[in-house]
Amino acid sequence: MRKILANDGIHAVGKKLLEEVGFEVVTEKISQENLAAHIGEFDGIMVRSATKIKAKDLVNPGRLKIIGRAGVGLDNIDSEFARTAGIEVFNTPSASSKAVASLVIAMLTGISRKLHHAARTMPLEGANNFANLKKMYAGGFELEGKKLGIIGFGRIGQELARMAVGLGMEIMPYDAFYTPTTLNCEFGKHSFSLPLQQYELDQVFEQADVISFHVPAQKDRALVGLSELNKMKNGVVLINTSRGGIIDEKALIEALDSGKVRAAGLDVFLNEPNPDAHILEHPGVFSTPHIGAETEEAQTRIGIELATRIIDFFEM
Ligand code: 3PG
Repeated sequence: MRKILANDGIHAVGKKLLEEVGFEVVTEKISQENLAAHIGEFDGIMVRSATKIKAKDLVNPGRLKIIGRAGVGLDNIDSEFARTAGIEVFNTPSASSKAVASLVIAMLTGISRKLHHAARTMPLEGANNFANLKKMYAGGFELEGKKLGIIGFGRIGQELARMAVGLGMEIMPYDAFYTPTTLNCEFGKHSFSLPLQQYELDQVFEQADVISFHVPAQKDRALVGLSELNKMKNGVVLINTSRGGIIDEKALIEALDSGKVRAAGLDVFLNEPNPDAHILEHPGVFSTPHIGAETEEAQTRIGIELATRIIDFFEM
């Protein structure tokens, strides 16, 4: 019987599809330290971002033929090494776009009304200090008409643009490889395409009121450090749901302290799953624990796509 290890779990729908055609699906987690010793016992392995599959884990690949990344980012897998060892690597690039984009909108709408902060203080002080808190959380802002810079204009960036258009925001897309000139939108039975203006990266940094990042993990240096922050508007809002390290965390704390950055929505951090407490505790940070892809719908789509790809691969 072919054995598949779902080391970071798999949605029940995907597990069932695999089991129905005769795979054994193992969901007991193998620790990072023990992975190299056991990986060869499986025909396939599926991981999310938590498990790292590096060259040293693939030195004795045994019967391993396929690695499925249940999600988008492949930075936790040494894909090149795996492929040269004859192991197929695939991801599920489209399944979670709506989930990630909707988290950006949630962070942005929350920040616009200081909800991230109010949600911390209301349970503690709301009963006795209501009138002062009301004053403290006045001065929100509306999203309509604000300029939304979207850096990385692939599937997630475009999904975010569609949602933001519905809120009346002005879209400033930038992609290092290719930025489409139109955005195809479908709202219920209505479909239309919107013209998109082309921007340079610095124009986005300089003009946007809000900037959201949708780029892969950066290898050498943060995409946004002190010099990029200095180019931005005073009071800019930054959202990072891509990978920790895209915005330099130390520079971000300084920019939040000085008011250069009004607030930051962060779903991803350096050194996950042990991020720096300073960034989490900052009153200007709306933080979540890497839950961008965590909707029932996205995980169902991912589970089905993983199962289908593995079934096709083994022609079961
Ligand atoms: C991704 O790359 O797909 C996202 O960062 C989600 O990762 P996760 O599946 O580990 O939550």
